[in-house]
Amino acid sequence: MRNVFNVKSLPGLLANYALVLSGFFLVQCTPKNTNEILIGHFASLTGTEATFGQSTEKGIRLAVDEINAAGGIKGKKIKLITMDNRSQAEETNAVVNRLIEQEKVIALLGEVASQRSKVGALVAQPKKIPMITPSSTNPDVTAIGDYIFRVCFIDPFQGTVMAKFAFDNLKVKRVAILREIGSDYSVGLADFFSKKFKELGGEIVTDLSYSNQDVDYKAQLTQIKSKKPEAIFIPGYYSQVGLIARQAKELGLSVPLMGGDGWDSPKLSEIGKTAVNGSYFSNHYSNDSDDPVIKDFIKRFKAKYNEMPDGLSSVAYDAAQILALAMEKTSELNSKNIRDQLALIKDFHGVTGKISIDKDRNAQKPAVVVKVDGATNKFVTTVNP
Ligand code: PHE
Repeated sequence: MRNVFNVKSLPGLLANYALVLSGFFLVQCTPKNTNEILIGHFASLTGTEATFGQSTEKGIRLAVDEINAAGGIKGKKIKLITMDNRSQAEETNAVVNRLIEQEKVIALLGEVASQRSKVGALVAQPKKIPMITPSSTNPDVTAIGDYIFRVCFIDPFQGTVMAKFAFDNLKVKRVAILREIGSDYSVGLADFFSKKFKELGGEIVTDLSYSNQDVDYKAQLTQIKSKKPEAIFIPGYYSQVGLIARQAKELGLSVPLMGGDGWDSPKLSEIGKTAVNGSYFSNHYSNDSDDPVIKDFIKRFKAKYNEMPDGLSSVAYDAAQILALAMEKTSELNSKNIRDQLALIKDFHGVTGKISIDKDRNAQKPAVVVKVDGATNKFVTTVNP
């Protein structure tokens, strides 16, 4: 029987030994490469919200590659270590611990879903590792502590944007709400929308919920139909929203559907088919823009991935760039100094607009409203804070 060292020549034999030995030394003796800056990304790369993590990773990866190609930070290259939490809270706790304790990352990027960002923040804050969520909009996330930042707007603003849009632009007075119970994001956004819409003089004709595991929404939709709303606000995530839209159509509900940034996924129209067409949602970004910063970003993104960026890729790109800027500005690169510099970010001209970090470590930014039209989202309006 042949064994692995059955080589034909002495140089070949030596080469084999050299390989084994160098492998041994690499594993056993090499300290962490001090010429690298280790950054962790915890993400939903698989599971129910898989496109959230995948889009975010693409945006971060583009930023990191560009930064490294331009020489890195203080002469060091960024090494991005990404771990999948399978769209699950318990797994998020495990991977964030691993990134900090085993991989020794100096800062963290993640997550998208507010629920999982909260889990990550509860690990990062006591260990004093700065964390930036690109896209979690629930206010509680950054309230966890002074090491937790975000580069997006928050849901009191997003809820206001959609309430005003419904009242002023769509001119509807009677709206039904269908929220995901158990999702901090969905419950929060539903509440903020409801409060503002009533303040404006509108009526919430019914406010129903579904849970994460549900696939059949007909009971709620039938009840909604009986209340004769002029629009339905569904602040959920794309996989469920797609199904809800289809079932609403099957039941003959033809009023406009509205939602928030959780709708942002290339899968929305794959799941929802034509039933999502003509719906409106608020988002961080629209590809439909004349801004040269956005145009150039789209060009670079397409060159790398051969597809258009979505809102998540864009806001993730900004998060990584802001982290890099904060790192560059430190006198000495450590987690505490990065935190302090993040808190000072002002007027950063990102792809998703001008970003200033406020005293609560949130970003004051405009939102866009888009209209779903097949696989593309048509820009409708920008709303400033
Ligand atoms: N804002 C959502 C949340 O907090 C996440 C999200 C952002 C989803 C942007 C899609 C696009 O849970």
